[in-house]
Amino acid sequence: MNFPILFSPLKVGPYQLAHRVAMAPLTRMRAARPSLAPRPLNADYYAQRATPGGLLIAEASPVMATGFGNPGVPGIWSEQQVEGWRKVVDAVHAKGGIIFLQLWHVGRVSHSSFQPGGALPVAPSAVAISSEFKAMTWDGKVAAYEMPRALETDEIAGIVAAFRQAAKNALAAGFDGVEIHGANGYLLEQFLQSRSNQRTDRYGGSIENRARLLLEVVQAAIEVWGASRVGVRLSPYGVANDSGEPDPMPLYTHVVNALGPLGLAYLHFIEPRSSGAGRAEVNWQNVPSAMVLFRPIWQGVLIAAGGFSGEAAEAAIADGHADAVAFGRIFISNPDLPRRLQHGFPLTPYNRATFYGGEEAGYTDYPVYDELAPA
Ligand code: FNR
Repeated sequence: MNFPILFSPLKVGPYQLAHRVAMAPLTRMRAARPSLAPRPLNADYYAQRATPGGLLIAEASPVMATGFGNPGVPGIWSEQQVEGWRKVVDAVHAKGGIIFLQLWHVGRVSHSSFQPGGALPVAPSAVAISSEFKAMTWDGKVAAYEMPRALETDEIAGIVAAFRQAAKNALAAGFDGVEIHGANGYLLEQFLQSRSNQRTDRYGGSIENRARLLLEVVQAAIEVWGASRVGVRLSPYGVANDSGEPDPMPLYTHVVNALGPLGLAYLHFIEPRSSGAGRAEVNWQNVPSAMVLFRPIWQGVLIAAGGFSGEAAEAAIADGHADAVAFGRIFISNPDLPRRLQHGFPLTPYNRATFYGGEEAGYTDYPVYDELAPA
C-alpha cells in the first residue's frame, strides 16, 4: 500500500473522511439546457468518483442568473436545478461518499449572451478582462470580453442574498456542505483584488473593504449551514481570468485571519503552479506556495490543490503544509483515483478536448483500473 498518510482518516467539520484524496471542483458543462439542471448523466459521473468517506467537491454552480458565464454549467437557483442535484447527491451518498457544492458567481467572466435581458455582466468596477482572454457565448462561440457594469452599492445585498438562498437550495438538495468560490478571477476574487476592484464605497479601497463581500457571503452560508459545513476556496497567487493581486500577502493574510475564528470546515488553496481553469499546462517556477505561506496562520483543515501527484500529496501532508489534497484533472480520467493511488496502479491520462461540454465521452467512459486490459 502506498501513501499511508494520504490514506489515513481526517475529520472535516462533522465528517470523518476515510482518506485525504478529495475531488476538486471541476466545471464540465454537461447540465441540461436550457434548465441548467443536473441530469442522470451527471449523477453517474459523480457516483463513479464516490468512495466511502471520500470528499467530492461538486463543480462550481452559479447562485443566480447573472452569475453564469459558461454554456451548460449546472445552476443552484431554481427548483428544477435543486431536483437535479438531489439525484446527484443521492447517488454519491448511496456509495458512502461526502459531497459539498461549490457556490459561484462569475461576475465579469461572462458575456451578455448569458445575462438576463442581454444585459452586461456585473462586476465590482467597470474594468474589462484583458483582450488576451476570450469570453464564451451562450452558444459556445468565442467572443471578446465586454466592459462589465459596476454593481451599485445597494445591489450588493442582493448578491449576498443569492448566495444565502443557494446555500439553502444546496441544503434542500441534500449536500453535506458548501464551498464558497473565492478563487480563479470570479466575482468574489474580483472584489478582493485591487486590479478589478476600484470602488470607493465600503466594498472597495482598503483591504478590509475589498474583503467585505467575501466575508458577508461566508457569513450568509454559515447562517444556513453552520460554520463546520462551509469551506472557502482561494487562489492568492492565481492568474486565471486576468486575476492577480500585485502584492497578495497583505490581502490574503487579512482574509485568512478573518476566516480563522469562524470555525469553517476547511480552507482550500489552489497552488499557483497550475492554471485556474485548466485550459493549458502551466509550469510556474519560483512562485510562492500558498499552502506553505498561509499554513502558519490557519489552524483549521487545509486542503491544497493544483498539480499534485500522489507523491507530492503525501509529502505536503507529511510536511504539515496541508491536511488533504484535492485532485482535478487526474480525477477526471481516473474515476477510481483513490484506489489507483493507494495501490500504485498506473493512471489513465486525461483528454483535454473533452473537459468542457459533450456527453459520455471523456466524462463517464473513463475505465476503472480493473476494466483495463492487462498490458
Ligand atoms: C477546473 N478548476 C475549477 N476550480 C474551481 O474552483 N471550480 C471549478 O468549477 C473548476 N472547474 C475546472 C474545470 C476543469 C476542466 C479544470 C481542469 C479545472 C480548477 C481545479 O479545481 C483545480 O484547482 C485545477 O485543475 C488544478 O488541479 P489539478 O488538475 O492539477 O489536480
